[in-house]
Amino acid sequence: MKGIILAGGTGSRLYPLTRSISKQLLPVYDKPMIYYPLSVLMLAGIREILVISTPLELPLFERLLGDGSRLGLEITYAEQPVPRGLADAFLVGADHIGDDEVALILGDNIFHGPRFSEVLRRHARNIDGCVLFGYPVTDPERYGVGETDADGRLISIEEKPAHPKSDRAITGLYFYDNDVVDIARGLRPSARGELEISDVNQVYLDAGKAKLVDLGRGFAWLDTGTHNSLMDAGQYIQILEHRQGVRIACLEEVALRVGFIDIDTCYRLGEESANSGYGQYVMDIAVRAGSAHLTPQLARKGTP
Ligand code: DAU
Repeated sequence: MKGIILAGGTGSRLYPLTRSISKQLLPVYDKPMIYYPLSVLMLAGIREILVISTPLELPLFERLLGDGSRLGLEITYAEQPVPRGLADAFLVGADHIGDDEVALILGDNIFHGPRFSEVLRRHARNIDGCVLFGYPVTDPERYGVGETDADGRLISIEEKPAHPKSDRAITGLYFYDNDVVDIARGLRPSARGELEISDVNQVYLDAGKAKLVDLGRGFAWLDTGTHNSLMDAGQYIQILEHRQGVRIACLEEVALRVGFIDIDTCYRLGEESANSGYGQYVMDIAVRAGSAHLTPQLARKGTP
């Protein structure tokens, strides 16, 4: 399965914050926003990832993430000169997808919850149609909204409806089979001039091939669309990290846990930013993993 992170757009709802920098590079507490969606794709076991952004901002993402090889990834980049809609990702990314399945994640979506990697891995396998992830919210009119029947089967999808039929927002993480590229090619722009992801999902729904996975209570799907929600997201991450002594969406840790890098590489990556608490954390993670596996190099470094 290939991955795409859509990280373009104008970010106009966050002006003046985003006048000179991409929204998806803004800090969410201790990391750039794009770390969070990137960690989700990695947890799903995806290594080949395309980052789509504006021609002006793409070089900044490249500076941050490079070719991904340090993390055991293959990251490539593609321009979206104008924000033609979320489904444009499948046209811009058609070559990257090839004849594979694809996971699309929006660069401004933050997910965090228990056993999320299990959920991701379970649903990323053998996709026949599309897999959408639903989350109950108090303001569904701001999102794509999914309505389900008594058995939890998806029966309707609406984009930002004035009168939502349910409180189930469809989050910005989508798994598709390879048909998505042809479906996107057949779309016409909506009344607001965009190729809508909800129209893609509607095609799958009509074919009886759209599945909705409920993320439910105890899970966090955080919004970064307004100044307040961006601040709230940062504070959520800060509180959890301080309370538990963990780092959420630490790419080096995720890469180690999913087996994309080894313990020594993880330690070395931490050492490169040893001046920051983040770098210290990465080294610490490697040392702990090393003492569990007793690699000679890390045993010499000792457990802090
Ligand atoms: O966050 C989930 C919601 O995302 C879904 O519930 C909606 O169904 C979906 O349409 C989308 O709604 P938004 O109003 O949040 O989409 P927005 O236009 O804000 O774009 C989301 C992200 O994608 C944002 O980081 C900018 C980026 N983007 C957007 C467009 C339209 C692009 O990179 N290119 C684009 O052409």
